[in-house]
Amino acid sequence: MNVLVIGSGGREHAIAWKLAMSPKVDAVFVAPGNGGTALENKCENVLADVDPETEAMILADFAEKAGVAFSVVGPEAPLAAGIAAAFHSRSLAIVGPDKRAARLEASKAFSKAFMAKYGVRAAAGREFFAGGGAGFEDALWHVKTHFSQTNQPIVIKADGLAAGKGVVIANCFTEAEACLRSFMKDGVIGEAGRTVVIEDFLRGKEVSVLAAVSVRNGKGVIAPFISARDHKRRFDGDMGPNTGGMGAIAPVPDFTEAAQADFRSSILEPTLKGLKAENFDYRGFIFFGLMVQDGRCYLLEYNVRLGDPETQAVLPLLDSDFADVCVAILDGSLTENQLAWKRGAVCAPVAVADGYPGPYRKGDCVTVNGMAPNGGELSPDVKLFAAGVRLQDGNFFTSGGRTLAISAYGADAESARSAAYRGLDSVRFEGMGCRKDIGR
Ligand code: AMP
Ligand code: GLY
Repeated sequence: MNVLVIGSGGREHAIAWKLAMSPKVDAVFVAPGNGGTALENKCENVLADVDPETEAMILADFAEKAGVAFSVVGPEAPLAAGIAAAFHSRSLAIVGPDKRAARLEASKAFSKAFMAKYGVRAAAGREFFAGGGAGFEDALWHVKTHFSQTNQPIVIKADGLAAGKGVVIANCFTEAEACLRSFMKDGVIGEAGRTVVIEDFLRGKEVSVLAAVSVRNGKGVIAPFISARDHKRRFDGDMGPNTGGMGAIAPVPDFTEAAQADFRSSILEPTLKGLKAENFDYRGFIFFGLMVQDGRCYLLEYNVRLGDPETQAVLPLLDSDFADVCVAILDGSLTENQLAWKRGAVCAPVAVADGYPGPYRKGDCVTVNGMAPNGGELSPDVKLFAAGVRLQDGNFFTSGGRTLAISAYGADAESARSAAYRGLDSVRFEGMGCRKDIGR
C-alpha cells in the first residue's frame, strides 16, 4: 500500500521512517516533508508549496489520485481546522481526530471543562472569557486574591493555539497582571489569548504519554505507548526560555509502575469515558502531558497528535508494524496487545540554530562526519531525524529553529545517551546549539 504523511518536522520524519519499515508499505508520500524525508527509504516529498494547515482539499485530492490507503496527520493545526471531515466526506481514511475532538488541544477552556466533566485529575483552575471588561477584571481579582493568600506561582494559559507562547508561570502579582494585560487586553498573541485559563502551579516531574486512540460511535480504546520525557527549556539544567523541545528520552526511568497505574485510573480511563460519551470520532493519536507529584499524576494538557520530539524517541522502540497500528486505529480493531516494545532506551537530543527560540540563523550547510548526509542512518542504532533542514544539490541547509534530532538506541538509558551524543558530535553547522543534559 501507499500512505501519506502530512507535516514537515522531525516527528513527521520519524512517522514516515517507521511506516516505510513495514513490508506492507510500498511508498510513503510526505506533504511537504523536509530534507530528511527527501532522502528516506521508500519516501517521496510531495506538494512542496502546500500549507498543510489550510489546504485540506489539495491534500485530499492528492490522497485520492495517489490511491493512498490512509493519511497520517502530524501537527495540530490541520486537525483543528477540520482536515478529518474533509477526508471523510470523500471516503478517504485519515489518522487524526475530527475538529470537535481537536478542541481538546485547540481550546484550553474546552479541555479544562472536559477534564472536570469526566473527573480527569488536573490542577484546580478557572476560565476567564473574552468579551467586555469583566473577564479581564475578574481575572485580575482572581490573581490578586491568590497572591494575597500565598506566594506560590500561578499558571496563566491562553485558550487558543499559540505556538508555545501561550503558557506563562507568574511568580508575583505584577507578572500576572502584565501577562493578563498582554493576552486579554493588548492581544499580543491575537484571539488565542482573549480567553484564559488560570490554574494552580504544580511541582513535580513532567512525563509525556503518547497513545493510539480508536474511538467511534461511543465505543473504542486508548492504547498507551511507552513513556517519554521532553526537555523544553533552551539551556542545560532547565534554564532559559521555553522551546518546542530540545530533546527527549524514552522510557522515563522515574515513571514508576505505581505512577503508571495511577495514570491509568485517574487520567486515561476517565478520558476514554469522555471521548465515548461525547461521541467523538477520534481515530488518531493523543498526547497526555503529565505532572507527576509523589506518584500522583495530574494532567497538564492534551494534544491531539504525537509529540515532537517525543515521537523521535518513542517510535524507534516500537516493535510492532506501525502501518498495522494505523490500520487498526482506523478499522476499530486496535488493542493494547498490538503494541509491542523493545527493551532498552532511546535518547534524542535536538540540534538548534543560533538564536533559537528567538530569531535564528538560516541557510547554513549541515555536515555529518564532514560530509553531506547520505540518508539518516549514522549506524544501525543511531538515526538522524531531520526537521528544519532542506535538501539542495545533495546537501542539507538549515531552514528552521529546531534543525534535527539524533535518536540513539541503547541497552539502557546511559548507553543510549552516550551513543546519541557521539552521533551529535559528528553533526556540524555554523552556530549549532544543543543541550548536553538530555536524559540526565
Ligand atoms: P501546557 O501547554 O499546558 O502543557 O503547558 C506548557 C508547560 O507549562 C508544561 O509543559 C509545563 O512545563 C508548564 N505548566 C503548565 N501547566 C502547569 C501547572 N499547572 N503547573 C506547573 N507547570 C505547568
Ligand atoms: N513536545 C511537546 C509537544 O509536542 O507539544
